Amino acid sequence: MTNKTALITGASKGIGRELAFIFAEKGCDLLLAARSEQELVRLKELLEEQYGVTVHTFNSDLSLPDSAQQLYDAIKNEGIDVDYLVNNAGFGDYGAFADTSWERYGNMIQLNIVSLTRLTHLFVTDWQGRKAGRILNISSTAAFQPGPMMAVYFATKSFVLSLSEAVDNEMRAAGITITALCPGPTATHFGDESKMNASQLVKNVQIADARSVAMLGYRSMMKGRPVVIHGAMNKVAPFVVRFLPRRWVTRLSAQVMKR
Ligand SMILES: NC(=O)c1ccc[n+]([C@@H]2O[C@H](COP(=O)([O-])OP(=O)(O)OC[C@H]3O[C@@H](n4cnc5c(N)ncnc54)[C@H](OP(=O)(O)O)[C@@H]3O)[C@@H](O)[C@H]2O)c1
Repeated sequence: MTNKTALITGASKGIGRELAFIFAEKGCDLLLAARSEQELVRLKELLEEQYGVTVHTFNSDLSLPDSAQQLYDAIKNEGIDVDYLVNNAGFGDYGAFADTSWERYGNMIQLNIVSLTRLTHLFVTDWQGRKAGRILNISSTAAFQPGPMMAVYFATKSFVLSLSEAVDNEMRAAGITITALCPGPTATHFGDESKMNASQLVKNVQIADARSVAMLGYRSMMKGRPVVIHGAMNKVAPFVVRFLPRRWVTRLSAQVMKR
């Protein structure tokens, strides 16, 4: 029997890299996409040697227009069928909305929203005929409320959650599931890259390790769970905000997100 194949975006570091290890441990072949080519090649060599799986790497900047389509075309050109899609690549940026450049926001929206949606659409369309396929979209606990000082990032993650739940609902009867994984603050490069370590949020919560977040995502995707939040404490805010006026929620969020 041939191995299943998983495409993971943002596999060079953090949660995506941990997911690559977990899929390889389970005997799954891998397609790894990110911008850091050398990191990906090193990871490919490691995974192939340790787990005997086949790994392809794709040097792909998914913040560029049409990059998702190009990645999909490159995979098709290799004649590879994908069974699992993990839309993990993403970044945030801590700072006042007006103080951050449009270029930065444009890239963030392109990566966190447009490429994720395009890949989801391409593979869901592909999979309709064969009535199988699983997608894991990495959202965030940021998805459940507005986030002053990270307004665009929080909004992109709300989009990911909403899209995933809706498409999962549409596709379930066709044997295709979409899981939205919502981690809280996690020990990866994200805190430094996004400058989020300056916020009260990171100072006041327990930081999860990337492996446990990735494992929860993998297991939930395999069970076809629509939404999963990592960590007991991270479930409190998404529950409580349902009962509070939106304005209060935004004010509370602003307190947590301040420097
Ligand atoms: N860490 C947290 O606290 C946290 C919490 C909630 C949700 N998340 C979400 O978890 C996901 C993974 O983040 P992480 O925490 O593992 O952060 P990370 O360690 O910074 O890893 C981010 C990954 O995304 C890739 N990436 C970034 N920009 C890219 C681009 N333009 N094109 C292709 N790949 C790109 C990076 O690879 P290259 O740099 O090599 O391109 C890297 O592999 C993100 O969607 C993030 O929003 C993180």
